[in-house]
Amino acid sequence: MASPPSTIDHVPATRGPARALILVVDDDAATRDLLREELEREGFAIEVAAGGRAGLERVRRGGVDLVVSDVKMPDLDGLDLLREIRTVEPTPSVITITAFGSIDTAIRAVKLGAYDYVTKPFEMDQLLLTIDKALAERALRLEVVRLREEVNRRERLDNLIGRSPAMQEVFDLIRRMAGSQVSVLITGDSGTGKELVARAIHAHGPRKAHPFVAMNCSAIPETLLESELFGYARGAHSTARTDRQGLFVEADGGTLFLDEIAEMPLALQPKLLRVLQDGEVRPLGTNKVERVDVRVIAATNRDLTAHLREGHLREDLYYRLNVVQIHLPPLRARSEDVLPLAEHFLARSAARAGKPLRGFTESAKKVMLTYPFPGNVRELENMVERAVALAEGELIGPNDLPPSMRERKSQDRLATAVAQGLTLDQLEREYIERVLDAEGGNKTRAALRLGLDRKTLYRKLEEYATAPKPGSDAKNPGQ
Ligand SMILES: Nc1ncnc2c1ncn2[C@@H]1O[C@H](COP(=O)(O)OP(=O)(O)OP(=O)(O)O)[C@@H](O)[C@H]1O
Ligand SMILES: [Mg+2]
Repeated sequence: MASPPSTIDHVPATRGPARALILVVDDDAATRDLLREELEREGFAIEVAAGGRAGLERVRRGGVDLVVSDVKMPDLDGLDLLREIRTVEPTPSVITITAFGSIDTAIRAVKLGAYDYVTKPFEMDQLLLTIDKALAERALRLEVVRLREEVNRRERLDNLIGRSPAMQEVFDLIRRMAGSQVSVLITGDSGTGKELVARAIHAHGPRKAHPFVAMNCSAIPETLLESELFGYARGAHSTARTDRQGLFVEADGGTLFLDEIAEMPLALQPKLLRVLQDGEVRPLGTNKVERVDVRVIAATNRDLTAHLREGHLREDLYYRLNVVQIHLPPLRARSEDVLPLAEHFLARSAARAGKPLRGFTESAKKVMLTYPFPGNVRELENMVERAVALAEGELIGPNDLPPSMRERKSQDRLATAVAQGLTLDQLEREYIERVLDAEGGNKTRAALRLGLDRKTLYRKLEEYATAPKPGSDAKNPGQ
C-alpha cells in the first residue's frame, strides 16, 4: 500500500492505541462481516449498523470518525444518510460504496460532502488506502479548527478583542486580578474599552454570580450622587418618601463600577473612602450603619495626578482606588487591533442586520489602518455599524466608510474651509456636528472630546437646531 504524502506525516495515528472509530453501514450482512473483520485486522475500531437509520442514530451519539456506507439501503439510503450526517458536529468523514456503473450516484455523494467513493466490487487495499487518506484529511481539518480556536482564545477575553501586545498584557492582568478583591483603577481615553474591562474583571472572578452595578459619576447631579451611592431613609430630604437602598447595597457581594471617578465631588470623597476601608455605608438621614462587601472598580479618562495636584481628589482616596492600575492605550497606538475589532463588529452588525457581509475590501482596510481614531474603539464600532447599514454586496468598501475618514489625504484640512469662505462660526458648527457624529450622537462624550462643558454644547446644538445652515448644501466639505 502506498504511504501517505509527507504533508500528513505528523497527524495523529489512526491505528493502535488512539484508534479511529469507523462505522460500517450496510444492509448486507456478508459485506458488514467482511468489512468488520478486515478493518479490525488493520487496527481500527469498528462498529456496524444494518441500515441508514441505525447508522444515523449511532453517528448522532458521537465519537465516530469515519463512516463507510452503502448507497442502496431500504430504510434511509446512503445519500440521505450523508445529508443527515453533515448536520452532526463534529462531522465524521464519509466514504460511499457505490454499485459498479453508477458513477452519477458517486458524483452526487461527493457533491453532498462524501470524502470519496469506492465502487463495488472493490479491492480491500483500495478501500484501505481511501480510508487512510480520509482519516488523515480529517485529522488535519480538526487540527486547523483547534488552532483557529486557540488563536481566537488568545485574541479575545469575553467580548474584549485584542491582538496587540498591549491588549495581551491587559488580558493577562484581568485574569490575574479577577480572583482578588483589590480595587482596580482603569485609565484610558474615551472609547478605549474601560467599562468592558471592568465587566471582564467581574465576570472572571468569584463575584460573577452577584451584581455588577455601574454608575457614571458625571451623569448624576452632585446633589443626588450621595443618595444614589449610599441610599437614604424616608424623610432624609424633600423627595425621599420611602427608604431607598443605595448602589453599594445593591452591589453587595458583587462589583461597583464607578465611571468617571474624577467627577466625584470632593465633599463625598471621605464617605467613599470609608466604605472602601471598612465596608460600611450609612444611608442619608440615618445613624444606622450597613455592612457591605463590594469590590470597587473605578475608571477615568482624566489625568488623575493633575487632579490630585489641583486638590480635586483626595490623596488617600486615590491610593485606595489605585491599588492596581490597568491602562488602555488609545487605538491609534495599537493598530494590530484595528482589523480584528473591525471584523468582530462587522460580524455582529451584519448578523443583526441580516446582511451577508463577509469582510472588508483591501482598500477599506487600508483606510482604517491609516486613520487615527480619535474616538477610539467606540468610533470604530460606530463606523462599522454605519458601513453595514450602507453596504451592498459581500464586502465593505471605502465608499461605505465616512467621508471624513477617506478624505484625510487632502492634507491641508483648513484649505477647504478657506476656499469655501466659511466663517469661524460655520467652521465651529461643522466641527461640532462631525465630532458628535463620530461619538454616535452621545453629547457627554462629544463635549469631552471638544473640550466644552456639556451645558455649552447643549446650548450650541439648540442654536443650530433653530438656525439654518447657510450654504451648507453646496459647500459641505465632507461630500
Ligand atoms: N477591546 C475591545 N473589544 C471589543 N469591543 C470593544 C473593545 N474596547 C471597546 N469596545 C467597545 O467600544 C465601545 C466603548 O467601550 P467602553 O464603553 O468600554 O469605553 P470607555 O473606555 O468606558 O469609554 P468612555 O470613557 O467614553 O466611557 C463599547 O461599545 C465597547 O463594547
Ligand atoms: Mg465608559
